[in-house]
Amino acid sequence: MKVRRATVDDSAAWGRLRLQLWPDTPVDAHSGEQAAMLEAPDRFAAFLYEEGGSVCGFAEASLRRDSVNGCETSPVGFLEGIFVVPEHRRRGVAGQLVAAVEQWAREIGVRELASDADLANTVSHAMHRHLGFEETQRVVYFRKEL
Ligand SMILES: CC(C)(COP(=O)(O)OP(=O)(O)OC[C@H]1O[C@@H](n2cnc3c(N)ncnc32)[C@H](O)[C@@H]1OP(=O)(O)O)[C@@H](O)C(=O)NCCC(=O)NCCS
Repeated sequence: MKVRRATVDDSAAWGRLRLQLWPDTPVDAHSGEQAAMLEAPDRFAAFLYEEGGSVCGFAEASLRRDSVNGCETSPVGFLEGIFVVPEHRRRGVAGQLVAAVEQWAREIGVRELASDADLANTVSHAMHRHLGFEETQRVVYFRKEL
């Protein structure tokens, strides 16, 4: 089986991939987030794709209890992040990782899996559509210093 749930023993390899997807997050913060996910397996799940002894992709999901744009039910599963190393792309790895997330989401009893992507990330948009997601909304976030 190439896709498996991440455990504490995977922390280093999983963390290296996380750093590639979210390079602005400090290493310590990655470690803290990973530990928090592993401590709450009914609310968070991380799956790794391993081939030839190396971890080359991951997907993370959460149970979101707040209202999620475009969804009809609550809580829902949410695909928080997905990354595949460049050399392994376009070979269905993301599809296998999302299938594992879907299985987890069904097991915890939710009926919808939601996700998001930057407006400019058209590869991610194509991946989501290919994997059966439908686009619901496009939003722009704002902030104001108070
Ligand atoms: C997005 C990403 C996870 C896809 O991983 P992947 O393993 O290459 O995806 P898959 O091989 O499962 O591709 C599934 C489908 O997505 C679409 N897709 C994937 N990469 C694509 C690309 N570069 N251009 C167009 N469509 C693409 C295709 O429809 C593809 O099916 P096909 O190969 O049969 O045509 C990967 O490109 C990645 O890690 N990107 C950087 C991180 C990122 O943007 N993550 C998403 C954040 S929301």
